[in-house]
Amino acid sequence: MTPNQPELLSVTALNFSLSKEKHILKDVSFSVPQGSFTLLCGPNGSGKSVLLRCLKGLEQMQEGTIVLDGKDVSKDRKKRMQTIGLVFQDADTQMVGQTVEKDIRFGMENLGLDLEEQNLRLEQVLQLLDLASQRSQRPRTLSGGEKRRLAIAGVLVMDPKLLVLDEPFANLDYRSVVSVLSTLLKLQKEGHTIILVSHEVDKTLSHADQVLVLEAGRIVSSGSPREVLPTLSLHGIYLPEGAAVEDLTWLKR
Ligand SMILES: Nc1ncnc2c1ncn2[C@@H]1O[C@H](COP(=O)(O)OP(=O)(O)OP(=O)(O)O)[C@@H](O)[C@H]1O
Ligand SMILES: [Mg+2]
Repeated sequence: MTPNQPELLSVTALNFSLSKEKHILKDVSFSVPQGSFTLLCGPNGSGKSVLLRCLKGLEQMQEGTIVLDGKDVSKDRKKRMQTIGLVFQDADTQMVGQTVEKDIRFGMENLGLDLEEQNLRLEQVLQLLDLASQRSQRPRTLSGGEKRRLAIAGVLVMDPKLLVLDEPFANLDYRSVVSVLSTLLKLQKEGHTIILVSHEVDKTLSHADQVLVLEAGRIVSSGSPREVLPTLSLHGIYLPEGAAVEDLTWLKR
């Protein structure tokens, strides 16, 4: 963990409802230190994806404060859009270009990066996510796992301050899982701040600096992996009995 790091993100009393009766997020508060790795978990329908969409500004929360980098950006959707790179749970919704290469360039063009910088970053992410041989392929024709890797590449290439990934391991085979997880850990080492939403708690817990458990729209448990581990089964998250935090990884050490 990076305990003395300032907070990059701080969320206070966030409430989000779809209607008078349908409250999705209830009084959600947490903070994310600069350079940390946060694992957000919880049962299906607990509000994880909606929370990420609220952070990014794709959903309009009714109440709450979002502070990014020391600035209140609750009403500054543009700043949140720029600072937060979100890899969606559904990779299909994220693809815009005619080819893999154009798709990856799209975000960089919007950022106004010069061609030289674009080319450099493009080659890096194509290598990193093992997409070099698909660079001229149409995104719609990619396999499920390739689409997922493209969605990650498209966000990574923009080098967001806060990288948020919603179930990035879905559809990936073991090799790709290891490569994506290792990439995330490498990015963290380089100073990036990461929020990961994953049901694969048994394979990711050991890498988290902090864990947040969401259930029915509330944060019901939070803390270090060691603190949160004994509470998980109370919230419908079952792990191999007696497993120590260090065992809960995809990466063999
Ligand atoms: N536009 C919408 N209209 C109606 N209900 C919605 C809408 N968006 C989200 N919900 C509901 O909000 C709740 C939280 O959804 P969300 O997608 O955040 O769950 P999740 O924790 O990401 O689940 P999963 O693990 O299955 O991805 C669900 O009950 C979902 O049906
Ligand atoms: Mg979800």
